Amino acid sequence: MTLSKNASYHPSSWTSIRFVQAKDEKDVERICHSTFYGGDGFPLPSLIGYLWSTWYVRYASEHSFVGTDSQNTAVGYALSTVDTLAYLQHFSQSMTPLIQGSLMELKRTHPQVHQQFAHEFRHVHHVYHLENMKQVCQDYPAHIHVDILPGFQGQGLGKALMNHLLCHLDSFGVKGSHLIVGDENKRAVKYYQSSGYTILLDSQDGIPGCFVMGRLRENV
Ligand SMILES: CC(C)(COP(=O)(O)OP(=O)(O)OC[C@H]1O[C@@H](n2cnc3c(N)ncnc32)[C@H](O)[C@@H]1OP(=O)(O)O)[C@@H](O)C(=O)NCCC(=O)NCCS
Repeated sequence: MTLSKNASYHPSSWTSIRFVQAKDEKDVERICHSTFYGGDGFPLPSLIGYLWSTWYVRYASEHSFVGTDSQNTAVGYALSTVDTLAYLQHFSQSMTPLIQGSLMELKRTHPQVHQQFAHEFRHVHHVYHLENMKQVCQDYPAHIHVDILPGFQGQGLGKALMNHLLCHLDSFGVKGSHLIVGDENKRAVKYYQSSGYTILLDSQDGIPGCFVMGRLRENV
């Protein structure tokens, strides 16, 4: 690459936003793994993907976007499904066997890590059995996940992906969307608030250690 004298070249600049594609599955998994609360030291990245990102690439690509670098590689994503209740049902059929297989592998290769996380991973959707989460799904039927690869954070990609996704959901006619975020993740909470999300349930009303946030479609 040749640069003019005054060009400012940032090795980790994102370049564009597009719908997620099947070929992005491993890159999306890498983003999910690197922003997972255990960090990218977690020994079985595919399990992290099966839990939080792979389903959207395989089954909700029409409502999910990635930001890419100059090589067209995904470096951030805004994943969504427009119907959380349908998602929960489909997820348990399509992903649970893969998750169970990965948990068995983890138990064999990293028993201590398995002991630490197995319960939580097995019951990843238990929060949706809470009465007030059922109400959230009625009023805010879509849900979203946004994560950016660490080297690409703080450059406007999260904002751009969110604008893209919300425009898409609004024009699709979805009446509202929700998300779950750690109540100590101040940066992410601020980011969601600046995109129009408000706190619907705090740690005491809903999921310990988390906020459930929601946003209604504009002009409804
Ligand atoms: C939270 C996250 C999605 C934001 O995306 P991003 O590309 O880093 O953010 P942007 O550069 O688009 O900036 C978005 C907002 O965050 C603010 N921001 C950016 N970097 C920041 C930092 N280091 N500290 C505090 N605020 C910051 C920006 O000022 C901007 O605010 P504004 O809308 O008021 O201008 C991204 O940082 C991320 O993936 N973090 C780790 C994983 C995570 O927490 N995901 C959400 C879990 S539910």
